Amino acid sequence: MTAETDPFILTLEQTDSTNTYVREHFDELPDLALVRAKFQTAGRGRLGRKWLSPPGVNFCGTFCFKNVADGFHAGMLCGIALMRTVAELLPGVPFYLKWPNDLYFEKSKAAGLLGEGILRQGKIAGIAMGIGLNVNTTQEELAGTGQSAVSLRMIANQEFNVDFVAKLLAKQLNVCYIMYSDSVPELFPEWRSCNKLIGKTIAVTDACGARFEGFFRDVTPQGEMILEYEEQGVPLQKIFNCCDVSVDKSSL
Ligand code: BTN
Repeated sequence: MTAETDPFILTLEQTDSTNTYVREHFDELPDLALVRAKFQTAGRGRLGRKWLSPPGVNFCGTFCFKNVADGFHAGMLCGIALMRTVAELLPGVPFYLKWPNDLYFEKSKAAGLLGEGILRQGKIAGIAMGIGLNVNTTQEELAGTGQSAVSLRMIANQEFNVDFVAKLLAKQLNVCYIMYSDSVPELFPEWRSCNKLIGKTIAVTDACGARFEGFFRDVTPQGEMILEYEEQGVPLQKIFNCCDVSVDKSSL
């Protein structure tokens, strides 16, 4: 018989960034701890962007992973936990993951992930995986971000209790983690099936600004994108890591 324990959640009124908090307190935090903040003064997004969120209305938090193989596994766990959470809150709404782990509804982003490795003696000792989920932001508040974004409130036309959303997400993450510890290959097909752009013609831009248009054939077991494209009539294949490229909005 196994006793179920509640997930560890630390709620801060305010911090610069929950990713920074987890990095700075990594040694004191338990595995799978969730550190969330009602307000971040310097929230970060991917590719050096800022993550802006008005006080109190959205979920901003970071999971502390101590026993996952790498950043992809931490992202996969959080991506699936996010999908399961929104499926429970808004049953039947067709959310999907835009590779690798952004949560989308139609052509608008509802949540993003930022993973950062934590080094100890030159080795990765853990991953701080931050999640920003638009819960109660209004259309007007999101318009200021300059991106096509959406919140759960805008989709469902009702407000959500952010504490409840955080508890649900932590619970889902813990359930996924138990599956992960038993068998990594079991979770991978679920993550793959949430990635709606697989099998579509898409465009990506790499870190140097080079643009590739091609067919998103599949993902590798390490979560990389296999893109098939043509150059002067010659069929080519390239494997992209999520740190190397971003998928263009035109692909959605
Ligand atoms: C992105 O899509 O660019 C990733 C956004 C990640 C935002 C979250 S909010 C909680 C955590 N703390 C941060 O500073 N960033 C992540």
